[in-house]
Amino acid sequence: MEKQTQLKESVDFLKSKGILAPEVGIVLGTGLGKFVHEINIEVEIAYADIPNFPQATVESHSGKLVYGTISGKKVIAMAGRFHMYEGYNLWEVTYGIRTMHALGIKNLLISNAAGAINLSYKKGDLMLLEDHLNLQGNSPLAFKKAGVFGPIFADMLAPYSEALNSKITAIATEKQIDLHIGVYASVLGPQLETRAEYRMLQILEVDAVGMSTVPEVIVAKQLDLPCAAISVLTDECDPKNLQPVNIAEIIAIAEKTEPKLVSLFKELIKAL
Ligand code: HPA
Repeated sequence: MEKQTQLKESVDFLKSKGILAPEVGIVLGTGLGKFVHEINIEVEIAYADIPNFPQATVESHSGKLVYGTISGKKVIAMAGRFHMYEGYNLWEVTYGIRTMHALGIKNLLISNAAGAINLSYKKGDLMLLEDHLNLQGNSPLAFKKAGVFGPIFADMLAPYSEALNSKITAIATEKQIDLHIGVYASVLGPQLETRAEYRMLQILEVDAVGMSTVPEVIVAKQLDLPCAAISVLTDECDPKNLQPVNIAEIIAIAEKTEPKLVSLFKELIKAL
């Protein structure tokens, strides 16, 4: 089936369930799912029940789309995202972004859990993305007929909306939430990085590293959809003092830090 037809089927189904004219789309990263409690939920649909939505794996089996209002604004949130490391291709990884865009969102807010490469940043801190490195070795725009959705030579001058970022930094200042601003590198994973890879990322002047977000942002750019992204820093990637990976701790730190992120996103949505 043509990709446009697939997408139309998904979108028509979601509209038939009452998901109409959402203004803001939100992607919730690892350990960051509680944001949905801020939504006055009107419709909630498991990914598995949406025609043509990527088939969930074990890790993302709880994935769902949640639609409702925050401060009177219609929002749609993806609780659970798809990663390339789970074996999805980048069309599948970014299917939710294209779906939310076709439903009508005007702004996209993305969150993720990431490791701190900049060693002045600590676990439990937040970082607003000002730019990125795509180190996944692939592009979500590299498929046949990708041009039907927008330019394939999408420019990457400002992948993160300057207007959204300045609103977010103003809110952080007002709410006294420490917010770093930096460069995020997306790697394929799922293994963590070697010491040599962490040193490479330092040399590349990366501030945080993770396994998501960049493909979603590239698709948003193709669609001319303003987006902003915030990393919750869950571990410190010091090549001189490398600790064994502790996924439970990464998730626990993401959960503990989530209220700051929730507060920023909530205020931003109110201000849009
Ligand atoms: N590396 C890659 N992805 C991550 C990390 C990390 O250290 N922490 C959380 N996501």
